[in-house]
Amino acid sequence: MSTPLIEVHGLAKSFGETPVLRGVDFTAASGTATVLLGPSGSGKTTVLRSMNVLETPDAGLVRIGEAAVDFSSLPGDKATRRRKIRALRSRSGMVFQSHHLFPHKTVLGNLIEGPVQVQGRPEDEAVADARQLLEQVGLAGREDARPADLSGGQQQRVGIARALALKPDVVLLDEPTSALDPELVGEVLGVVRDLSQQGWTMVIVTHEVRFARDVCDQVLFLDGGVVAERGSAEVLTDPQHERTKQFLRRVLEAR
Ligand SMILES: Nc1ncnc2c1ncn2[C@@H]1O[C@H](COP(=O)(O)OP(=O)(O)OP(=O)(O)O)[C@@H](O)[C@H]1O
Ligand SMILES: [Mg+2]
Repeated sequence: MSTPLIEVHGLAKSFGETPVLRGVDFTAASGTATVLLGPSGSGKTTVLRSMNVLETPDAGLVRIGEAAVDFSSLPGDKATRRRKIRALRSRSGMVFQSHHLFPHKTVLGNLIEGPVQVQGRPEDEAVADARQLLEQVGLAGREDARPADLSGGQQQRVGIARALALKPDVVLLDEPTSALDPELVGEVLGVVRDLSQQGWTMVIVTHEVRFARDVCDQVLFLDGGVVAERGSAEVLTDPQHERTKQFLRRVLEAR
């Protein structure tokens, strides 16, 4: 097998005295979708935030492509540490539960902010890319709208386009539809499904089981700070562990 694009090994994180991640391990090949699920508080968001180094893990390795940080033995030199962390962070783009768009900027302004300000790309190039991305998420023509003028589903699609605008290797999506009214969920999941078909590598936290089954190459069930069960989409239809069964029963009953 070729080297996986993503490698997470021994990821550990405590908040105060409370261990949240106790050694999370997984790998994912380029072009695959990994679905992460598990009960509230099981650490799903912390896994994604650790991969994007919005959270600094206490121990463990995160590698995306050639950028790797071993949090168990961070370089002592501050400048080296920051450079390595920045390199890892630039490999992934994050889509949050609620979109976190800049309210005072237009849709286009939101999309080019990262590429131009952070990555130093020429503005005309960033604008051209942004227009293409907006078309891809079904929002061509809405360049000049403000976030407040858009529906929740449209805002979230801008959030997705904004993550893609950074040209990451991996897109990390944290419950991208859980803050939406039910009638808006489908349009956002449709966009995520398209991205998956186009070959984007994604790690998605979602409790949309049917959607997960359609897109995922791999399922990780997180419980007690570790991956308690893993496998193909079959984990969703034929779970082996009692905790996974209970969890899926609860999720499906809630629909
Ligand atoms: N910054 C923080 N400071 C203190 N505790 C935190 C922090 N972030 C997360 N936690 C705690 O860590 C645990 C795991 O949180 P996390 O958000 O990763 O869970 P989750 O699986 O994403 O849950 P949910 O399904 O509710 O989103 C929770 O108990 C949470 O309260
Ligand atoms: Mg969460």
